Amino acid sequence: CGIVGILGKEAVATQVVEALRRLEYRGYDSAGVATLEGGRLTRRRAEGKLKNLETRLSNEPLEGLVGIGHTRWATHGKPNETNAHPHATPKLAVVHNGIIENFRDLRAELQADGYVFETETDTEIVAHLVTRELDRGKIPVDAVAASLPRLHGAFALAFLFQGEEDLLIGARKGSPLAVGVGEGEMYLGSDALALAPFTNLIAYLEEGDWVVLHRRGATFYDKTNKQVERRAQRVAAGAFLVEKGNHRHFMAKEIYEQPEVVGHTLTQYLDMANGKVRLPFGDQIDWKNLSRLTISACGTSYYAGLIAKYWFEKLARLPVEIDVASEFRYREAPLPDQGLALFVSQSGETADTLAGLRYARQNGQVILSVVNVPTSTIARESDAVAQTLAGPEIGVASTKAFVCQLAVFASLALAAARARGTLSAQDEVSHVQNLISLPGLMARALELEPEIEKLARELSKAKDVLYLGRGTSFPLALEGALKLKEISYIHAEGYPAGELKHGPIALIDEDMPVIVVAPHDALFEKTASNMQEVAARGGRIILVTDAKGAAECGIEPEATIVMPDMDPTFAPIVYALPIQMIAYQTAVFMGKDVDQPRNLAKSVTVE
Ligand code: G6P
Repeated sequence: CGIVGILGKEAVATQVVEALRRLEYRGYDSAGVATLEGGRLTRRRAEGKLKNLETRLSNEPLEGLVGIGHTRWATHGKPNETNAHPHATPKLAVVHNGIIENFRDLRAELQADGYVFETETDTEIVAHLVTRELDRGKIPVDAVAASLPRLHGAFALAFLFQGEEDLLIGARKGSPLAVGVGEGEMYLGSDALALAPFTNLIAYLEEGDWVVLHRRGATFYDKTNKQVERRAQRVAAGAFLVEKGNHRHFMAKEIYEQPEVVGHTLTQYLDMANGKVRLPFGDQIDWKNLSRLTISACGTSYYAGLIAKYWFEKLARLPVEIDVASEFRYREAPLPDQGLALFVSQSGETADTLAGLRYARQNGQVILSVVNVPTSTIARESDAVAQTLAGPEIGVASTKAFVCQLAVFASLALAAARARGTLSAQDEVSHVQNLISLPGLMARALELEPEIEKLARELSKAKDVLYLGRGTSFPLALEGALKLKEISYIHAEGYPAGELKHGPIALIDEDMPVIVVAPHDALFEKTASNMQEVAARGGRIILVTDAKGAAECGIEPEATIVMPDMDPTFAPIVYALPIQMIAYQTAVFMGKDVDQPRNLAKSVTVE
C-alpha cells in the first residue's frame, strides 16, 4: 500500500496518480484520491488497478490544488470502493498504511459519542477520532496532535482538511513516510521513489514523528509533540529504487522496515476484521490428511523453518522433519505418502534448496514454498507458493525476509491447526489478534536501539560470544550467532540452553559474553537455571527478556534488554529485532562492511 500527498500550484490529481503508480510495486487492490474542490473535500475511488481510478477521474475530473492519494491492500474489510481510501468525514479525509491495533476499542468509544461508521476499515476510526477533536473546537494541527497518541499499532497517515487549501499533515509510526520539497510545492510519499518525478530533495520522518506541510515549508514534531529539525537531502539520480533513506546501511533500513513489511505480509494471510486465517492459495493444501511436513532451507531461512517446526508441531499436531538443504538433498531420506515438503528461500534461487525441492518432487511430495521473489525458480517449481511481502532485500544478511517468513509460518500453522481440528475458533481469534499486534510491538522493540548501541561497544571487544535459548528462542540463538559472525566476524555459537551443561559450559569465563534470549514463557524458569550456572562461573550475561523475566531471572546480568510484554507463542517475530540490532550495532561499531560482508553472497546459486 502506498501514500501520497501533494500541495501543488496546479491541479494535482494526475500527479497523485502518477506517484501512486510508482508505488505499485508494493501491491494493492483498490485506489483513491481526495482533493479540495473550491475548499470542499471531494473523493474519487475505485476497486482494482489504478487504470480504473484513472477512468473515474477522466469521467469526473478533479481540479483541486491540494490532494492525497492511496493504494490499498485490504486489511480490515473487503477490497471494494466503500472500503477504499481516502476515508472522509465532512471535515477531513485521511489515507493510512498499516494496522491500527486498538480499532475495536476506539470504534466503540466513538460510536458511544454518536459517530456513525460507514465502513469495516480501521482507517475510518482515525478519520472520526480527529473529527471529534475538530468538533470540540480544535484547529487541525491540534486535533491531530491530540489524536495520534490514542492510536496503537504500526502505521503512516496523511490528512487533508475541508477548507484548508494550504495544509497537509502526515504521521509516521512503524511505517515509513517521506517529505518532498519542491519550488512552492510540497509532497508526502511512502518513499522517495513515489516522489521522484517531482523532486529529489527529501526529508524523512523518524519513528513517531509527524509533520505539518504548507507550500512554504514543513514543520516536524516528534512523538512528544516537540518541534524537531529533519533536514532535507538530495537523493542521487538513479538511486531511488533501492535507496537507503535516512539510514546508514541497507541492513538498518531493512531492520526498520520490519513492522511495515510484517503488517503487509499478514494482511495477505489474515482476515483481520473477523479474526481468522485466510490463505491466499485457499484449499490447495490438504492439511488435514498430511502425514508429515518436511522443511528444508539454507542459512537464515533454515532458522525460520526451525521456528516453524515448533509452531506446526504444537499448534497443528503435525509431525515435522527439518534439515539444511545441502544435507537433505543427498541424504536419500525416505519421504512418506501424503507428505508435504516445504522450501523456504528469500531469493528463491538457492541451489541447494532447489535441489532439495527436486528430490522431494521425485519422491512424491506436494511442494509448498515460502519465497520472497514470486518469479523465482523455486516458486515456479512449487505446487503452492506462500509469498513473503518483504520487498527487495539488499543487505546480504537477511533480516526483513526472515521475520516475514515467520509471519507466513505463523499463519500457515494456524491454518493447518484449524484444518486438523486442533484449534478452537476462539483460540484462532486470539492468535490472530496477537499476530495483528506484532507490527506495533516490533516498532516498540526498535526503540531499544540506543541501549543496544551501548551494549555493542562491549561486545565488539569479545573474541567469542555464546547465544542461548530454549523452545522457539533456540533458533533465535542460532540466528543471533549467525548474524554476529556474518557481519562482525566475531566467532559466535548458538546453543539450546539445556545443552549448556554438555559442552559449552567449559568455555565460560569472565571474557565470554553469553546472550540469553528468554521471554517469560513456560520455559523461562528452566532457562533461568542455566543462567545461574553461567553466573556461578563468572560468565557475563546479556539477557533479552520482558519486564517479568528481568524481575525473576534470579541473577544480575551485565545488561538486560527489556522487551515489551506479549503473548509468547509468536514472540520470536519480535525478539528477532534485538538479535539483529545487536549484530548490526556491533559490526557498525567495529567499522565493518555491514551490507556486503567479506566472502558472503546474497543469493548462492552454486553448491
Ligand atoms: C545466503 C545469504 C543468507 C541467506 C541464505 C539463504 O547465505 O547470505 O542471508 O539466509 O543464503 O538464502 P535464501 O535466498 O535461500 O533464503
